Amino acid sequence: MDRSDGYVQEIDYTHGYSSELAPGLVELACVAAGVTTVLRNRPLRYLEMAFGQGVSIAIHAAACPGEYTGFDFNPAHATNARTLAAASGSGAELTAETFAEFVTRKNLSQFDIIALHGTWSWISAENRARVVDIVRRLLVPGGVFFVSYNCWPGWATELPLRHLMIQHAERSEGSLEQRIDAAMAFAQSLIEADAKFFKAHPGLEQWLADMRGRSRKYLAHEYFNRDWHPMPFSEVEGVLRAAGLGFVGSAKLSDRIEGFGLTAAGRALTRGVTDPVLRETTLDYLVNRRFRRDLFVNQPTALSPAAREDRLRAFSFTLLQLPAQIKLNEEVSCAPFIEAMADGGFAPKTLAQIERHGACAGVEFADLVKAALYLTSEGSLHPAQSREVIEQAAPRCAALNAAILERARRGEAIAALASPVTGAGVFMAQQELLFLGARAAGCTSAEDWACLAGETLTESDPEVLLSNARAFARIRMPVLQALRVA
Ligand SMILES: C[S@@+](CC[C@H](N)C(=O)[O-])C[C@H]1O[C@@H](n2cnc3c(N)ncnc32)[C@H](O)[C@@H]1O
Repeated sequence: MDRSDGYVQEIDYTHGYSSELAPGLVELACVAAGVTTVLRNRPLRYLEMAFGQGVSIAIHAAACPGEYTGFDFNPAHATNARTLAAASGSGAELTAETFAEFVTRKNLSQFDIIALHGTWSWISAENRARVVDIVRRLLVPGGVFFVSYNCWPGWATELPLRHLMIQHAERSEGSLEQRIDAAMAFAQSLIEADAKFFKAHPGLEQWLADMRGRSRKYLAHEYFNRDWHPMPFSEVEGVLRAAGLGFVGSAKLSDRIEGFGLTAAGRALTRGVTDPVLRETTLDYLVNRRFRRDLFVNQPTALSPAAREDRLRAFSFTLLQLPAQIKLNEEVSCAPFIEAMADGGFAPKTLAQIERHGACAGVEFADLVKAALYLTSEGSLHPAQSREVIEQAAPRCAALNAAILERARRGEAIAALASPVTGAGVFMAQQELLFLGARAAGCTSAEDWACLAGETLTESDPEVLLSNARAFARIRMPVLQALRVA
């Protein structure tokens, strides 16, 4: 059998970090949805399937204590993931296996979290059935399955265009990159020939133009697999319900805020839809959703409202941005929460402590929860680990981060560093990694950071680099130090 099963192997995947896979965020999303899980237990047993370059699992294995297992059938991906994970000494077990190979392994262990990110829509029906089989057999009761996928109705107009391009790519010659370019040029030639399909969907011309600006790596994995199956939520929920899993909610925390991002009419309409599947479907149409990140729990049990509040009060949080950098939204009042969080530097605070803070006097607990969910969803806040766990994870994070900084010096940027405080990754731009690398090499001034970064970024304007290094020292360094990545 062809191990690739129609999946692109010719071009490796990008080195992205997916924050939504962080155990602390998954746990917060489940508690906010009022569901009991096993995620309070440490060490966690975490399986990430089809981990790509393995950046997320390497970071989580370093930063959040647990036993991490992962596989991806692309040998180059697995090698990269193993090298990264080995740098921290986390002991993550990362292999080059297909779903079919993994599911037939002897002595498979049980897991508290199983994650499959950005893959469900891009694999065959047989492989999706194997995924479900793995989850059904290996997820403990109270364990969480994270699955993300392209969904309806957001992709409705692009589906036929993608079909046209894949038909062309399958029949043309050359490397995959050349066939991708030829397929996009062919689609453009149809637009220029006044094809009525494009006249009926005028937005597609711009979409095609945007695609031409994307990296060929991204396009290969996103659109040029044999399989590409955007699905309605109801179909995914139905398959997983049949395997004993219950839908908990979106992993995107702002989706846990009732009515967030909807018009007044949209809010009123969703209030009247009580069936959970029809409700999610309605929401997907209201926001024209393209991508879902869903959490399912094996045999979920509901937390009582009082137990949910108690659990939320016990959550500790830390800021990921200086207050002045935080993007506010008029739908959620965040100012008192941010003021309380920022008091006394960046020390983590529980929601109970925030509730007692003077700045939050008179603020309803439900509104503090909304603020916490919104800020976390925006990447301005994150659950924090206990002091003991932070100390345990700190040396592993330091070792992994040193390896990531060294890679950045060689021009190979990984988009995040590991924080022992959050048990998760912190997004970093390439320049920022180079400034930190220069600092780790002993340079103390922004001038020297910019100078050393310029040795890697030979085409950058030195003046711009210097101004970026100064801004980095002022805006990012205090936060990175508090998160113990600098
Ligand atoms: C779009 S990438 C997503 C990677 C990663 N989860 C992320 O979000 O960054 C899909 C991944 O699935 C892997 N994959 C595809 N088919 C597979 C199979 N049959 N068995 C195991 N891995 C597979 C690919 O190698 C690729 O790394």
